[in-house]
Amino acid sequence: MQEMTERLTMVLGQVRYARQESAGGRIIDVGSDHGYLAIRCLEEGLADEAVCTEIHRAPAQRSEDALIEAGFGDCSEVYITDGLKGVPLMAGDTVVIAGMGGLNIVDIISRALKDNGYHVLENVTFVLQPQKSNDIVRKYLSKAGFVFEDESVCYDRDIFYNCMRVVFKGISTTITDEEACYGPKLLSKFKNGDPQVIAYFEHLDEIFEIRQRSNPTVKAALEERKKNAGK
Ligand SMILES: C[S@@+](CC[C@H](N)C(=O)[O-])C[C@H]1O[C@@H](n2cnc3c(N)ncnc32)[C@H](O)[C@@H]1O
Repeated sequence: MQEMTERLTMVLGQVRYARQESAGGRIIDVGSDHGYLAIRCLEEGLADEAVCTEIHRAPAQRSEDALIEAGFGDCSEVYITDGLKGVPLMAGDTVVIAGMGGLNIVDIISRALKDNGYHVLENVTFVLQPQKSNDIVRKYLSKAGFVFEDESVCYDRDIFYNCMRVVFKGISTTITDEEACYGPKLLSKFKNGDPQVIAYFEHLDEIFEIRQRSNPTVKAALEERKKNAGK
């Protein structure tokens, strides 16, 4: 069994929640690279079928070889494609987009929204783990009609990572700059005293102090946070 990093284990944890109520179905791993996540999902019986997409040929081949070696050649497909292009979504799918920049994630999801009917999307769960630009991802998701089900954090090889699980409801909402930068669900966990989220926020506070000089969203988020903390 392939050793999973803390970061991928966190992503897998969100997939487990997403799959709790749906037996079978597909896991779609966009940007699968090594294929570890898809393999683990199949090993755990979280999905009957895995679809991996990769924009580059070499990681696509790596994913395919790993799936075949793990004995999942018959229940997996690997596509060389950009995001979800040419992969129609189906009700019950869980889509994972992990280890990519936030702008790339927004681009992939916005194209998937255009390519798939709302009735399908309402029954698809997205597990997203942006490497950066979390505020842009969260603002986009809210405006596009997604709802946050959960967010998690982990500390892996000296780096904090976060992950969000969202579902499409089709009703556009606006989130505050504080929610966009810190995460609406993570803010609740912080208020409830979650030690890992407290450590993550201390780290964010530090980097945001510097970043606020050039980023108005971060500046507003810090001001909101200080105001709310003073209440
Ligand atoms: C840093 S790796 C992350 C791999 C894996 N998802 C993980 O979290 O460990 C990002 C992968 O996404 C692929 N990728 C980047 N943009 C993509 C896109 N638009 N569509 C499909 N794959 C993409 C890259 O080729 C690379 O293999």
